[in-house]
Amino acid sequence: MTDALQPDAAAQGSDRRLRVGVIGLGWAGQQHVAAYAADPTVDLAALSAMEDHLLAQFGDLHDVPGRYQDWQQMIAEAELDAVSIATPTFLHAPMAIAALEAGLHVITEKPMAENAESAARMVEAANRAGRVLDVSFNHRQRGDVTALKQVVDSGVLGTLYYAKTGWIRRQGIPGLGTWFTKAKSSGGGAMMDIGIHMLDMALHLMGEPEVTAASASTHAEFGPLGRGGSGFGISQVEEGVPFEVEDLATAFLRLEGGGTLLLESSWAQWIPHDLCYVTLYGADGGATIEWGGPDGPSITVWTEVAGMPAVLEPVVGEDGRHAAAVAGFLHKVRSDSWAEHNGALALRRAEVIDACYASAKAGAEVAIGA
Ligand SMILES: NC(=O)c1ccc[n+]([C@@H]2O[C@H](COP(=O)([O-])OP(=O)(O)OC[C@H]3O[C@@H](n4cnc5c(N)ncnc54)[C@H](O)[C@@H]3O)[C@@H](O)[C@H]2O)c1
Repeated sequence: MTDALQPDAAAQGSDRRLRVGVIGLGWAGQQHVAAYAADPTVDLAALSAMEDHLLAQFGDLHDVPGRYQDWQQMIAEAELDAVSIATPTFLHAPMAIAALEAGLHVITEKPMAENAESAARMVEAANRAGRVLDVSFNHRQRGDVTALKQVVDSGVLGTLYYAKTGWIRRQGIPGLGTWFTKAKSSGGGAMMDIGIHMLDMALHLMGEPEVTAASASTHAEFGPLGRGGSGFGISQVEEGVPFEVEDLATAFLRLEGGGTLLLESSWAQWIPHDLCYVTLYGADGGATIEWGGPDGPSITVWTEVAGMPAVLEPVVGEDGRHAAAVAGFLHKVRSDSWAEHNGALALRRAEVIDACYASAKAGAEVAIGA
């Protein structure tokens, strides 16, 4: 383990092997395990989860020597440089803060925490420890998103002043009766869980404008009736847990400079199939990416070429997803700019989501950062 508060020059440099661990072995944690196991520059040294069978399954599969039901014991004993945290959302802050204080670099799953207050404490801990704090926004590593980012950065769309984005599932409430649908454990429903990916992608594509105000509404028409469930979420299952969060949220976001962003998030809806999209409107062109339907992902750009209306369909590269998110984290750990990677951007996302929930509760627009 490296010394807390003392950025260790030996930990920087691109060829240093890193000892890494993963806490949480649900779907998300398994993506981190796979990413580390496929990376010859790291040693996947320890796993922690509450399920013995998953510790044995993934421990055996990847020859991981350390297997812990107790994550604190893992942090104390396993001599790790870095850890992935893929546990129920309310556990991200206490686990990340403890790991940072022990001198580890940390990547948590999205959402960063159950609310912005906990997220802010995580950023403070990263600043105090002088360690990297990253959040896995794996969807921005999709091939269509990276292609659209290149389109935006080329300037062909001109100034972006409006965007629409959404993730609407046909039937995809994660584990009815698990931590996902308990307000204190998850911090929120569809917007917190999947809307945050779309918010992240849209703001990333638009060049990170600050969100200055939110006007939102939330609804729960499926979950309370036991409708719309799916198989996500293996832990914290309790019988008879009430459905305490929203299954649909809509938001109108004001951006610095006068632009606006519409965000819709739903775990279950009366639609033919799941739908995810980001549509950008610029002064010189528009563009959209869409996936979830039977036709697979698509990217389309509408602009002018030589004064004529033109429709472009850029060729999309490989999806990076979790492997790219984890590789990005390792790159930051090997860089000499740890202080720049303190989780501040993910905290801003958390502040927007908090403002959306506050707006929905108040039935009025809520200013952000005023
Ligand atoms: N980025 C993505 O695309 C994506 C997808 C799914 C979930 N997630 C996020 O990942 C996180 C986990 O989601 P999931 O669906 O994998 O959840 P899950 O409930 O399926 O799995 C959670 C894991 O955490 C472990 N855990 C819980 N409490 C623990 C403790 N005290 N000590 C050690 N391990 C503990 C459980 O044993 C389990 O292995 C959530 O924050 C969720 O929002 C992200």
